[in-house]
Amino acid sequence: MSKKQKTIFVCQECGYESPKWAGQCICGQWNTFAEEKVSGSEPNKLAVYDSRTKPMPIHEIKSGIHSRLDTGINELNRVLGGGLVKGSVTLISGEPGIGKSTLILQAAAAIAEKNGKVLYVTGEESEEQIKIRADRIHAISDELFLLSETNIDRILHFVREIEPAFLIIDSIQTLFSENLTSAPGTVSQVRDCANEMVREAKTKNIPVFFIAHVTKSGELAGPRILEHMVDTVLNFGGERSQEFRILRSHKNRYGTTSEIGVFEMKENGLVEFDNLSKSFMDGLEKEAEGAIVTCSYEGTRPLLLEVQALAVPANIGFARRASIGIDNGRLNMIIAVLEKKTGLSLINNDIYVNIVGGIKPEGTSTDLAVALAIYSSCKGIKVASDRVAVIGEIGLTGELRPIPNAEKMLKEASKMGFERVMMPEKNSKKISGKLQNTKIIAVDTINEAIKALERM
Ligand SMILES: Nc1ncnc2c1ncn2[C@@H]1O[C@H](COP(=O)(O)OP(=O)(O)OP(=O)(O)O)[C@@H](O)[C@H]1O
Ligand SMILES: [Mg+2]
Ligand SMILES: [Zn+2]
Repeated sequence: MSKKQKTIFVCQECGYESPKWAGQCICGQWNTFAEEKVSGSEPNKLAVYDSRTKPMPIHEIKSGIHSRLDTGINELNRVLGGGLVKGSVTLISGEPGIGKSTLILQAAAAIAEKNGKVLYVTGEESEEQIKIRADRIHAISDELFLLSETNIDRILHFVREIEPAFLIIDSIQTLFSENLTSAPGTVSQVRDCANEMVREAKTKNIPVFFIAHVTKSGELAGPRILEHMVDTVLNFGGERSQEFRILRSHKNRYGTTSEIGVFEMKENGLVEFDNLSKSFMDGLEKEAEGAIVTCSYEGTRPLLLEVQALAVPANIGFARRASIGIDNGRLNMIIAVLEKKTGLSLINNDIYVNIVGGIKPEGTSTDLAVALAIYSSCKGIKVASDRVAVIGEIGLTGELRPIPNAEKMLKEASKMGFERVMMPEKNSKKISGKLQNTKIIAVDTINEAIKALERM
């Protein structure tokens, strides 16, 4: 069969194809077009669909609960929405060395033990390298098969031969199809190979994990367009210098995206943290200016967190506001309310706010703690942060607004040994029963909260 070659230019950011090179893509990015060759004898796209498929009345389609596999890792199960759905395709991305292969290898071994054959395809490392890691983290099973291969057709051949209960592609960027002449990792290759894998997963009902890496700035062809093709998109992140690893989902066709999974990287693999709050409270400084403990609600769990703020004199006419873990707009709003309602002048201060542990808390329950942390840094007030936790949303009028799940947060703080919890009065009124060791400090406005802080 003769293959006619066609040259196209593909944006490596968004996958847009153009017959001509251009400096800027329609997605707004500059210098992202790369020349790719596609063979002209590409099959008609429609022909690849099974000709027996036809439209079906909705009531004739079988539904029911998706059957799910236990990955052997509770935190991973939770983020996936209660286990791995058969026939689902999941993309897990993360910076180099964060632990993607380790996590999935651990799951692979556990699934192999319970559900039969698992195929781990590696395009980056040799079988020996994977074996060495598997030995180190004790991820060994008779049913776990390793294949060092990057050719999609050969991979599909073995998938059909082995019929695995779970398939891993590490990584999707290394795959290539002989139909295309562009290099592995280019948008066309990644898209075509992923397409074929997705189709295989759906027709054979095999759950598939694609591992993908991204650079520091989150760039790399592939993952972007891949996000549309897969059912679930996970991101594995964290500070590489710290041992924490946080698994989040950005898209999930089978569950919520608000759950997080927390792990610690140890010599023998990733260890789950079921007591989340404890892990974040471990490094807490007992009496520090500008440090306040707060609580957020992540998915189905309350999570205690430490907010740190630093207010320092600024260069004249240029006050910086920088935050890690909370939205900058939110921070500016909190600062504005703090200035207006308490008379505190922050115009000559640089303000830095950090949520310790690399977490971005959901919701607004951390507002009041952020405000009090800034106030405490400005005024040099030391807070017994191992004994007091602060929750509540701040309204533009300076009043404190109720937050969802306050009672669960209170219980969590109590469980972790906090003696007092400051919260909006509107929340405290609804809390029935008393807790033995923990007192509620109910406050209605930001000014009341500051007075309570000064009395502590
Ligand atoms: N002996 C060891 N003890 C403790 N941690 C280790 C050990 N060996 C490796 N690690 C950890 O494992 C990490 C690498 O894990 P892994 O290879 O799973 O990451 P990855 O995300 O798949 O990386 P890549 O992008 O290179 O494929 C290292 O960064 C290190 O933190
Ligand atoms: Mg890897
Ligand atoms: Zn583009």
